[in-house]
Amino acid sequence: MTNPLRDPRDRRLPRVPEACALVVFGITGDLARKKLLPAFYDLANRGLLPTNFALLGFARRDWGDGDFIALAEKAARDYARTEWREDVWERLAGNMRFVPGSFDDDEAFDNLTTTLNDMGDTHGIQGNAAFFLSIPPAMFPVVLQQMQRTGLADNDRSGGWRRVVVEKPFGHDLNSAIELNTLVDDVFGWRDVYRIDHYLGKETVQNLLALRFANNLFEPIWNAHYVDSVQITMAEDGGIGSRAAFYDETGAARDVLQNHLLQLLALTAMEEPVQFIPSAIRTEKLKVLRAVTVPEDLDAYAVRGQYEQGWLAGERVAGYQQEKDVPEDSTTETFAAVRLGVETRRWAGVPFYLRTGKRLPRRVTEIALSFSKAPHLPFAKTDTEELGHNQLVVRVQPDEGMTLKFGSKVPGSMMEVRDVSMDFLYGETFTEASPEAYERLLLDVLLGDAMLFPLNEEVEASWDVVDPLEAHWAGAEPHRYRAGEWGPDAADQMLARDGRVWRRP
Ligand SMILES: NC(=O)c1ccc[n+]([C@@H]2O[C@H](COP(=O)([O-])OP(=O)(O)OC[C@H]3O[C@@H](n4cnc5c(N)ncnc54)[C@H](OP(=O)(O)O)[C@@H]3O)[C@@H](O)[C@H]2O)c1
Repeated sequence: MTNPLRDPRDRRLPRVPEACALVVFGITGDLARKKLLPAFYDLANRGLLPTNFALLGFARRDWGDGDFIALAEKAARDYARTEWREDVWERLAGNMRFVPGSFDDDEAFDNLTTTLNDMGDTHGIQGNAAFFLSIPPAMFPVVLQQMQRTGLADNDRSGGWRRVVVEKPFGHDLNSAIELNTLVDDVFGWRDVYRIDHYLGKETVQNLLALRFANNLFEPIWNAHYVDSVQITMAEDGGIGSRAAFYDETGAARDVLQNHLLQLLALTAMEEPVQFIPSAIRTEKLKVLRAVTVPEDLDAYAVRGQYEQGWLAGERVAGYQQEKDVPEDSTTETFAAVRLGVETRRWAGVPFYLRTGKRLPRRVTEIALSFSKAPHLPFAKTDTEELGHNQLVVRVQPDEGMTLKFGSKVPGSMMEVRDVSMDFLYGETFTEASPEAYERLLLDVLLGDAMLFPLNEEVEASWDVVDPLEAHWAGAEPHRYRAGEWGPDAADQMLARDGRVWRRP
């Protein structure tokens, strides 16, 4: 029975999904071990999973439930963010099942269907199940076809809800994305497809909406009249780790620009949604993505680079071509920077500079709005020599927070204006720790809340931006940069051409 005193629109209280199961294909993989399994433990620990929540793993191992539970326990102990509680773990582990098999094995999928049906009765999940495709993208079609064949994807046949979660990459260009979207939307129905862009699960990214639309302070200046330019940076100090095969096929633009950076751009540039509901927010994001323009002079305003051997944090690191399993003549980019426009009344003429790269000096993601200079300065020129552009910086990670940079008088009898900063840090202001992005997103899938998941149209509009860049770069050598530097010189020249410089985050 629902509580008559509780307003269903009140989002302050935590919501717990109804009884359900989650099936993870590729449960032995990197993502499942490092992110998904720990997130389930953290959700259980926070009391956010329904009683009897059933977790099913599927992979090609000759395993029983016990082997799976041991793998899951190790993953949770190694990577969960909340404290270890034996009783929580026991309860979660008691409802875990492993189904062995390969994706082309009909019998394994029949077995999965039976196991899930049986658990429907024993665990009271009444047909409610989500399926997480934590598998190589090339395997999506065969798994989706198996789910169609066995009726696993069928809401009516199962008697409950059925949802599917797809991880990036969502295709490798517009055509392959359309093909994938058509298939997955056809098997599940578009409302039941959840595309994970884990950046949207981050508190700071969601806070961008609060910052812009809950306050009256920023929105009046959030436009081309006051904003000179926007820089969105996602820098990583790490290299490619053990994912050479995937990365060498993909590159920085497809791996990061197409999804994370363009989603951050969409949230920064979108109009106010008429309501704080998924359809309204997705509509506004889509309008922005469709208004994004690629520069005509791609030679000057689309730069890609590849790291060479260098130094990072006092350690010598190898160049990209020397990384294990990377071809020594690889031309894949590990850095990409581009100047985009947003052709709307609000943003016409404001450049959006996006950059991402590996082996850069530090790991940081931020959105920086740089404001125009004051139209008139009633000071002597020397008084304001140290005054830069006012800036508002949203730091997505790490040191989550916001910085406002503006000019202030230096104390003393002389007149001198210099840049100062005002900081808001999540870690200092709130006692609650932010949940991991995957915790939030997995919970939303089970609750059926699609707010933070991009629509297939958004994915396709993003490929419309990236495809011309890829076509321009095809066959050309990337610029080189030393590991530990902020990308190639060409990226600095790109901004210098416009009379600007990159921020040092
Ligand atoms: N790792 C990350 O940090 C990360 C980040 C963002 C997105 N993603 C995306 O997440 C997905 C999974 O990535 P991952 O890094 O976890 O991949 P992975 O480590 O290569 O794991 C792949 C999983 O798929 C299973 N698998 C592969 N072929 C199979 C087959 N024919 N039949 C049954 N199972 C099969 C493997 O199981 P067995 O080999 O044990 O059978 C393994 O559990 C990919 O779409 C990737 O692009 C990953």
